[in-house]
Amino acid sequence: MTRVLSPEGSAVLRAVGLTRRYLDGPREVVPFHNLSLELAAGQSLAVIGPSGVGKSTLLHLLGGLDKPTTGQVFIEGQALYELSDAKRTLLRNQKLGFVYQFHHLLEECSALENVAMPLLIRRQPKAEALDRAAQWLSKVGLESRLDHPPSRLSGGERQRVAIARALVNQPSLVLADEPTGNLDRETAERVFELLVTQCQEAQAGLVIVTHDLHFANRCDQRFAMTSHSGSGSSQA
Ligand SMILES: Nc1ncnc2c1ncn2[C@@H]1O[C@H](COP(=O)(O)OP(=O)(O)O)[C@@H](O)[C@H]1O
Ligand SMILES: [Mg+2]
Repeated sequence: MTRVLSPEGSAVLRAVGLTRRYLDGPREVVPFHNLSLELAAGQSLAVIGPSGVGKSTLLHLLGGLDKPTTGQVFIEGQALYELSDAKRTLLRNQKLGFVYQFHHLLEECSALENVAMPLLIRRQPKAEALDRAAQWLSKVGLESRLDHPPSRLSGGERQRVAIARALVNQPSLVLADEPTGNLDRETAERVFELLVTQCQEAQAGLVIVTHDLHFANRCDQRFAMTSHSGSGSSQA
């Protein structure tokens, strides 16, 4: 079910008629069928649903990390799956930020180097990249942890670094897959709040997969996935 929120083209994210099929041995798996959604800049969308329903698969498709069996994803009007692999990778680096349940930080790098990495990949001069990274770490309250490797940070601090890394490139859209799933309640609360407010401030769209209905209810929209989503799912 699609609810049109904004004139076509002004949405930061639009997914139209997405279907993904897998062959799992002889068995066909269809996590979702004909799924559509959209999101405006600075808005947040919670994706909820039981384990195994296809939430991560959907996020991979929205982020250009997988290919839909049918359908299309538009990032600021640009059709992701009409691009060559190289151009899609470039768009991902320029317009998207990712936060995962497990931080996926580089263990051998400091917090500062981890946050600077997306800028260095974009070939920004090192001094500038480190400077921007330090500003972001300060925004997420980690100005005293710049030189710490992930192993010397708490779970909540690692997720803060991951949020800074996701936003340092000024992305149009942030995709977060259960970013608080591995944290205690109080830390989860703070990390969720930080992610939502920083995305809003940066006017980035945010899609967040969460099991937590309390968090989902604080997002601007909710997308509930049920088995064979598309027909069964709803955006509200
Ligand atoms: N590469 C793959 N090959 C086969 N099946 C897959 C693949 N990726 C995911 N699936 C299946 O798709 C379904 C949805 O998985 P997933 O998106 O990880 O669910 P969730 O994130 O909601 O827990 C599951 O049944 C999973 O086994
Ligand atoms: Mg998942």
